[in-house]
Amino acid sequence: MVEMIHEGPMDGFEDEVDSSRRKLLLGATTLVGAVGAVFTAVPFVESWLPSERAKALGLPTEVDLSKIEPGQMIVTVWRLNPIYVVRRTPEMMATLGQHDDLLKDPTSDDSTQPDYCKNAMRSRTAEWFVCIGTCTHLGCLPKPYFDAHDPMIGAYWPGGWLCPCHGSRYDISGRVFEGSPAPLNLNIMPYAFASATRLIVGVDDAAEAKSS
Ligand code: FES
Repeated sequence: MVEMIHEGPMDGFEDEVDSSRRKLLLGATTLVGAVGAVFTAVPFVESWLPSERAKALGLPTEVDLSKIEPGQMIVTVWRLNPIYVVRRTPEMMATLGQHDDLLKDPTSDDSTQPDYCKNAMRSRTAEWFVCIGTCTHLGCLPKPYFDAHDPMIGAYWPGGWLCPCHGSRYDISGRVFEGSPAPLNLNIMPYAFASATRLIVGVDDAAEAKSS
């Protein structure tokens, strides 16, 4: 069981999340300023949090990927934004390409992402999906519903995120479904891999982080 504590605009988040269903694993996360909220979860993994200096300066955020299991998601922070990091399974990836006709921007032509993420996976690698975790409608935090055919959403559901605020739905690459109030896919910021287990959020090239 994962416990989540939230305030303010995170109001759609429930106090408890069934981790077996949603496969959500959250690092302790603090969001202030523009997001205006605090949200904490267990287990606490310090490496998922940017240092105080990094937060103050808006420096890149480093994430240790070694503790994230297949099918799990963690949340970290970069420049006051919640950053979702998902370790996708081959089964999750197999759902892509099956529902493009249900999406608003299936090829992400109108959405925001670095060039290296403008592909069907919307990522640098099939395994790791990284994005800004705020809905492109009004900025709420979409909740993970990674199980396909979730009865609460519908038989067509391939797995992804559901925004609790007004019902926007995104697939496992953050692409928004038709019928959602959100206009665009989830935004993706620059990121790079310094190694197989070290993600750097906020730079296009891991070497940039070393010189920060
Ligand atoms: S903020 Fe997500 S649907 Fe409105």
